[in-house]
Amino acid sequence: MKNILVISYSQSGQLTEIVEKFSKPLQGNIDFVNYTSKKSFSFPWRSHEFFNTMPETVLEVNYEVEDIHYNCEKYDLIVLGYQPWFLSPSLPTTALLKNEKFKSLLKDTPVVTVIGSRNMWLNAQESVKKLIQDAGGKLVGNVPFIDKTNNLLSAVTILHWMLTGKKEKKWGVFPLPGVNQEDIDQAGKFGQLLNEDLTNNILENFQKRILLTGEVNINTSILFIEGRAKKLFLIWANAIVKKGTTEAKRRRWVKFFTYYLFIALFMVAPIVLTFYSILIRPFSSKGIKEKKTYFCGVELKK
Ligand SMILES: Cc1cc2nc3c(=O)[nH]c(=O)nc-3n(C[C@H](O)[C@H](O)[C@H](O)COP(=O)(O)O)c2cc1C
Repeated sequence: MKNILVISYSQSGQLTEIVEKFSKPLQGNIDFVNYTSKKSFSFPWRSHEFFNTMPETVLEVNYEVEDIHYNCEKYDLIVLGYQPWFLSPSLPTTALLKNEKFKSLLKDTPVVTVIGSRNMWLNAQESVKKLIQDAGGKLVGNVPFIDKTNNLLSAVTILHWMLTGKKEKKWGVFPLPGVNQEDIDQAGKFGQLLNEDLTNNILENFQKRILLTGEVNINTSILFIEGRAKKLFLIWANAIVKKGTTEAKRRRWVKFFTYYLFIALFMVAPIVLTFYSILIRPFSSKGIKEKKTYFCGVELKK
């Protein structure tokens, strides 16, 4: 019998549902763990709190996890469910990946990441790859679940969901926020592949088989945005921490960042993306393909 740890944190329950459905076909002693960080994050979010979380998230501050009980000292496989926040691992995910006990479990252990995101998980996964590697773990697969709605629409709908706590159609006209229920319900088909590879001791094949399903795709516009936005978030994060020395100053700087984010997302990005699609994209298909292949893989750039 294989010992399997399935561990995740979720605010709304969406990621818990994804991870549970994904793990259903797994056979073995399964240890399901839902953990939290010592610093709690209210759901629904208050608007200021939501944006105020950006600097520490992007700077990957360790808020530490609440004590976790594990049934085993070592596992044959770890399934780590996580969600990106501001193009970085969510703060509870960072806390887990920096936790000494969890790091000792990661050492020499195959890991599969299951992501429940809006649609921007590339930069967060780079951080997660690095933290797993630093702990001596071996990433063998990544299965991202995304909201397939248009980027601008999903930005509106996720904010509605996060700030009201209601996974409903905003004003009755916007699409439903979050990962499509059908995709969540079918998560077990990836778990089935994982179970086969685990049983046959060929986990190193898992990511190839995931990619063969043709269901992990990276949108070129998202690739373009993620290629630039994380660097800008880092500049903002450092500026807010440096300048926000009092509560009032921090509030003011977070407000500047919020305005910036809305302008960048809803005004600048669509214009820049239009120029990019006409002038640059047709001539850079090889580079785009290479980047997509890299981000769909489990290796970390040297
Ligand atoms: C503060 C915050 C920032 C987020 N930033 C991103 C992001 O950068 N990229 C993304 O794809 N989703 C982002 N999301 C959506 C989450 O990844 C996730 O899909 C959503 O919060 C539901 O997760 P849950 O299972 O914890 O409720 C963000 C959510 C929150 C609360």
